[in-house]
Amino acid sequence: MKRKLGTFETLYTLFIAGLGFYVLARNVPDLSRPVEAFFLLLLVLIGEYSPVPVPRGDGSISVSPPLLFTVAVLYGPGLAVWIACIATIRKKDLLGQVPIPIVLFNRGMLSLSIYGFCKVYALLGGVQGVFSLARDVPAFIAAATTYTVINAFLVSIEFAFMLRTSLISVWRTNIIWSLPNMFALFPFGLLMVLVCAQGGPLYLLIFLLPMFVAKYSLEKYIELRDAYAEMAGALANAIDFRDSYTRGHSERVAEYAVMLAKELKLPDDRVELIRYVGLLHDVGKVGIRDAIMKKPGRFTFDEYEEMKSHAKMGADMLMGMKFLGRGQDWVRYHHERWDGKGFPDGLAGEEIPLEARILACADSFDAMTTDRPYKQRMSFEDAREELLRCSGTQFDPRVVQAMMAVIDKLIANRK
Ligand SMILES: [Fe+2]
Ligand SMILES: [Fe+2]
Repeated sequence: MKRKLGTFETLYTLFIAGLGFYVLARNVPDLSRPVEAFFLLLLVLIGEYSPVPVPRGDGSISVSPPLLFTVAVLYGPGLAVWIACIATIRKKDLLGQVPIPIVLFNRGMLSLSIYGFCKVYALLGGVQGVFSLARDVPAFIAAATTYTVINAFLVSIEFAFMLRTSLISVWRTNIIWSLPNMFALFPFGLLMVLVCAQGGPLYLLIFLLPMFVAKYSLEKYIELRDAYAEMAGALANAIDFRDSYTRGHSERVAEYAVMLAKELKLPDDRVELIRYVGLLHDVGKVGIRDAIMKKPGRFTFDEYEEMKSHAKMGADMLMGMKFLGRGQDWVRYHHERWDGKGFPDGLAGEEIPLEARILACADSFDAMTTDRPYKQRMSFEDAREELLRCSGTQFDPRVVQAMMAVIDKLIANRK
């Protein structure tokens, strides 16, 4: 379905589109060698074919920038801005699946980015049509950096509008991870310029294969991230299915923990990790006997000891999962208490990782507000009082404070 743009987003997209079209009008392409120009257009079109989507939002990354750099250095801004504008039009743009202001914005944004490249390159002594490895590399790097920065900056503002979030959050989630890939394309671009300057544009064909390999690795990286999330979700279901009373528990703990982490202004990468660890925090329960897991009444001392072992067991199970990083510790310590009376290691205060303190609070809140075999569920309001009562003993007071705001939001959403 086509997205509806807000007023400010429309104004911003049309402003960038307008600037881009001004640049296009001022830079008429030199078409004295039409076959060459058409061939370059075709190459960028191929480079743009099925671009790699970014993890969130509607954006994507293409491997055609090095080609555009080559056109900019050897053929000048006229051809570069027009090819950047035309060759990047996608099927969904033509089929009307993208709002028109966004289609125009993308044209403007790309024209401006490559125009920025040309300007900086010329300013630093680069001469159109000739390229000397000894003289022009710094100008090329500076120009390519300019292209990347303009592009990333304009796109992140648009994403901030689209995702209704802050520029910093967009930068962290959608931009930063893609920058190393962009910078890695610079040497590739340099090589293309050299080869094209020496042998002509036909030689650029030899770059298509490595270009697609680069695109393929990016796609795999994104698929891998999605696979982690799916795997964590599947494991969470497996844990919760063992006990009908805790169905959905892991999902809810992950949701509350994410809300808490955001409330405490943790960076997005840590928030994302908390989501995975929230889903997996009770994974050690798969090693607990059914007789204990499904026991309707209270535990004996020995049974409780066995139940407690799930925290340590869960952490051990996740040991080999590199992508969870310190997340195993958070699983291990999710039953520690602020006053040091928790398990498995009896850590106290800030000895317990913040994320484990967050999980402890989210975990207890869900336990209080869902029916259990031995007790009826509490209302959100009563659970809020209980958390406040245990602040400074069972829970970190700072986390409880943040949880108050989270509960307010949960109550508001329920109404
Ligand atoms: Fe637990
Ligand atoms: Fe739990």
